[in-house]
Amino acid sequence: MNIGVFIPIGNNGWLISEAAPQYKPSFDLNKEIVLKAEAHGLDFALSMIKLRGFGGKTEFWDYNLESLTLMAGLAAVTKRIKLFGTAATLTLPPAIVARMVSTIDSISHGRFGLNLVTGWQRPEYSQMGLWPGDDYFARRYAFLDEYAHILRELWATGRSDFKGEFFQMEDCHMKPVPSRNIEVICAGQSDAGMAFTAKWADYNFIFGKGVNTPTAFAPTAARLQTHTEKTGRDVSSYVLFMVIADETDEAAFAKWESYKAGADREALAWLTEQSNADTRSGTDTNVRHMSDPTSAVNLNMATIVGSYESVAKMLDEVATVPGTGGVLLTFDDFLKGVDDFGTRIQPLMKSRRHVAESLKEIA
Ligand SMILES: Cc1cc2nc3c(=O)[nH]c(=O)nc-3n(C[C@H](O)[C@H](O)[C@H](O)COP(=O)(O)O)c2cc1C
Repeated sequence: MNIGVFIPIGNNGWLISEAAPQYKPSFDLNKEIVLKAEAHGLDFALSMIKLRGFGGKTEFWDYNLESLTLMAGLAAVTKRIKLFGTAATLTLPPAIVARMVSTIDSISHGRFGLNLVTGWQRPEYSQMGLWPGDDYFARRYAFLDEYAHILRELWATGRSDFKGEFFQMEDCHMKPVPSRNIEVICAGQSDAGMAFTAKWADYNFIFGKGVNTPTAFAPTAARLQTHTEKTGRDVSSYVLFMVIADETDEAAFAKWESYKAGADREALAWLTEQSNADTRSGTDTNVRHMSDPTSAVNLNMATIVGSYESVAKMLDEVATVPGTGGVLLTFDDFLKGVDDFGTRIQPLMKSRRHVAESLKEIA
């Protein structure tokens, strides 16, 4: 099973709490985290794009770096780990993103891939006059389909004449093409998002559910498989988890309880408002309604809480779910979390036994 780290490109990572570690994002912090991840044999690092924060006492995500430029910097200071950046597709034409990716492919010597997101929070885009109107909620994957078509064509051939509803290319040139096939990832949870992923992407990132229920994501992974059966492509699921670990289960749960008790209610209220902006119902809609107030403090992210042994056991359970390619981890404290993962958790995991061998070879 592959393991990646979802690096904190926004302030305070993924904990909307006054009781959690408070920090601002910087290149230096993310560099330190990614270098640690690389040293511990993690497979990849991903950064998101977020253009507007939630405010509140913790100013949650009011401070965010830009994903592709951050990853370009990280590409220059790392050697082995794969890197994925996120394109805010509503803000950047596909031919520009194709060229940015080709540039980072050159900086990283073939270690870079792209996360494609449609965008779902209106204020991120309306603040700069780039929200296409609320019809976009329903049509966002039709837009992304054309976008991906152009990217794939430019990377493969260096030119595109694609004519669609959203984009028209006119003998568009883009060279140099990347040194190898660019891996595309997506995080579609809706049927339209999964159909897109099954058609264009290599991995789909999915949300798990609950606290210490590591296989609760299985039905979502199975849904992706029904979509890939139609396209005949090999696309695996990668599951997002927050890890809160300590010497004992009790110590880890004490931290989790304190984060929840310190939740920044003001920032959470803003998030709920945004989540409800897409008023359509059914499976083909935005699925991030923060209905569970007990875990809204980490955006309802599936959470694994416990001693290093308990966490290792639960992560191994993730690997048993059919269609799973890997996990993407966040931590309450990233610097300590990545080190603890590398030195205390990973060595106990059956699904990571191969890593110790490969680290020995490198040493
Ligand atoms: C691991 C992961 C990373 C994501 N990164 C971003 C991001 O950088 N920017 C963004 O606007 N949305 C991001 N999303 C949200 C997804 O792109 C997507 O909108 C969401 O999962 C809902 O799926 P749907 O669009 O099919 O409804 C991410 C989701 C996951 C699980």
